[in-house]
Amino acid sequence: MKLAVVGGGSTYTPELIDGFARLREELPLSEIALVDPDAHRLSLVAGMARRMLARAGHPAAVTEHAEVGPGVEGAGAVLLQLRVGGQAARNVDETLPLECGCVGQETTGAGGLAKALRTVPVVLEIAEEVRRRAPGAWIVDFTNPVGIVTRALLDEGHRAIGLCNVAIGMQRRFAALLDVPWQSIGLGHVGLNHLTWERSVTVDGREVLPALLEEHAASIAAEVGLPEWIVRDLGVVPSYYLRYFYEHDNVVEEQRVKPSRAAEVAAMEQTLLDVYADPASDTKPELLAKRGGAYYSEAAVALIASLAGDRGDVQVVNARNGATLPFLPPEAVIEVPAVIGASGAAPLPVPAVEPLYRGLIANVSAYEELALDAARNGGERRVRDALLAHPLIGQSDLATGLAARLIAANRAHLPWA
Ligand code: G6P
Ligand code: MN
Repeated sequence: MKLAVVGGGSTYTPELIDGFARLREELPLSEIALVDPDAHRLSLVAGMARRMLARAGHPAAVTEHAEVGPGVEGAGAVLLQLRVGGQAARNVDETLPLECGCVGQETTGAGGLAKALRTVPVVLEIAEEVRRRAPGAWIVDFTNPVGIVTRALLDEGHRAIGLCNVAIGMQRRFAALLDVPWQSIGLGHVGLNHLTWERSVTVDGREVLPALLEEHAASIAAEVGLPEWIVRDLGVVPSYYLRYFYEHDNVVEEQRVKPSRAAEVAAMEQTLLDVYADPASDTKPELLAKRGGAYYSEAAVALIASLAGDRGDVQVVNARNGATLPFLPPEAVIEVPAVIGASGAAPLPVPAVEPLYRGLIANVSAYEELALDAARNGGERRVRDALLAHPLIGQSDLATGLAARLIAANRAHLPWA
């Protein structure tokens, strides 16, 4: 199968290549087409990818493409991992909201809205090209904000599934804590992308979450950046993105006095590119482990292999709600375990969601709907309304002030501004 990676010049790509090399039996690939407008980065990353595959004895050809069309031509699957505006735009997402006392994060709150505004039009254009050049190909979207981007793709009738590494990270972490193979772990994962809780953890179908928390609540709480009582009393494991909600004001205080994640990542990327430029390097650099993308190659391989091979296994993905969460519209995109086969992802039934989580999920889902409307149709009022609906913004002066500021700061990337 030919697999195309849009945003292939990302410094993350060797993480993917490492997974493709290790899991070649699971997902046999004949060509990996890297698509990126930045020719210099692309050539460094492609060179590194070729050396990694050669070292592993993997037969896939790595091709380089400046344009999406030829890159995706004939592909069986297209992975989207692009970042419109690069780390510079991310830096604005992470710092501008802080000026108004709101969390600065690339997928949560005002920063996440700015990212959606920049990203949705670009992704939809790419998807049209996929429809023309690779009809029938699956689009696997890693591009953030994954929930909004996936919904944009599905609304336009594309064969798309959204993917994030939070669930697979939890699965691997719990397996390590319990000293069992990760394959035996099942997750009762519920919510929206970057707004999820594990309400159940099973080993070979047997519930172990209470026992897991009994023993490991302190370390799990520390890892997700929340007070131990939240994990212990609620009896669930929130993802670390819940920290931006449950610890909002504390996070703002922290963020005010430390460098942005974008600045940290930009520095790491420079080092990574130097490694990729070295003709002697042919293994995934240690430094990549300091990025947030752990296991994302394994999640991608598993998803594409199940779509292509109609495996019918269960994976956590972003897909249409349908009737899964009855308190959300059917068109909403949710992140839950789903059965993955040739016709896509079919969410498994989810036990009734407690009001403690249901309210926040419904609130953020409504925000996502408004954010998508703003991204597709533009206009300061739509941007303001999305901010007014967001539980972390929600006040009139914050919504109007942030709307004006984030439009001004992102003008170069907004087709309508
Ligand atoms: C996790 C999230 C991704 C996000 C990444 C950021 O993997 O699931 O959605 O893009 O972290 O990692 P970074 O190293 O760029 O901060
Ligand atoms: Mn993610």
